[in-house]
Amino acid sequence: MKLTLKIWRQSGPNDKGQIVTYPIDNIEGDMSFLDMMDVLNEELIVKGEDPVAFDHDCREGICGMCSLFINGEAHGPDRAITTCQLHMRKFSDGETIYIEPWRAKAFPVIKDLVVDRGALDRVMASGGFVSVNTSGNTVDANAIPISKIDADKAFEAATCIGCGACVASCVNASAMLFVSAKVSQLALLPQGKIEATERVLNMVRTMDEEGFGNCTNTGACAVECPKEISLDNIARMNREYFKAMLTSE
Ligand code: SF4
Ligand code: FES
Repeated sequence: MKLTLKIWRQSGPNDKGQIVTYPIDNIEGDMSFLDMMDVLNEELIVKGEDPVAFDHDCREGICGMCSLFINGEAHGPDRAITTCQLHMRKFSDGETIYIEPWRAKAFPVIKDLVVDRGALDRVMASGGFVSVNTSGNTVDANAIPISKIDADKAFEAATCIGCGACVASCVNASAMLFVSAKVSQLALLPQGKIEATERVLNMVRTMDEEGFGNCTNTGACAVECPKEISLDNIARMNREYFKAMLTSE
């Protein structure tokens, strides 16, 4: 397969950046999108040029690192997969592919296709945890009965891998889908109820402070989410937030 790649190159946070064109040949349909990027980088290194910086780690849809905007879509044209799970058979011989970083005020570009997603970590640090008594009398988690319905909903919310595609897909760069998945995962379980009030208030406040936009219910986040996190989580977080506003001092 012969392709034309139009890739965002930016040498550092203060560089203006631009799209650079790279022709590439001998790409197999069975290659993953990141394999294709590796082929390009090997060619650039052989030519003595700077390879394209892009994020990746697990390459199996778990870590949430591979954050590429491909032909205007987060994680590319397929649904419910990450960039590392995207295969080149989704593209046609002779096609031009635009590859850009996540674009959001809260995700500044570090280099080329790599952005700083530390804002999501700071949202998590502000409340995305439970405090457990480890004094020696710790109760086995499995000893607490949880309804199957709640357990399933919590598990579904917990599949969020923190990739940030929801933010990148949103016209407002809102992080509501991510934050609501993290709030829901804990709010649905008895272990998460103790800190529920302060958790939702702190996480929403940090989300706003980090510069993410507001949610206007366009739903692009849920369409592009590789883990199919449901918009129901945003409704649940809003209910948790209003309840916390009414009951907090
Ligand atoms: S909600 Fe989906 S798109 Fe957003 S960070 Fe989690 S997995 Fe990624
Ligand atoms: S590299 Fe880990 S999810 Fe893609």
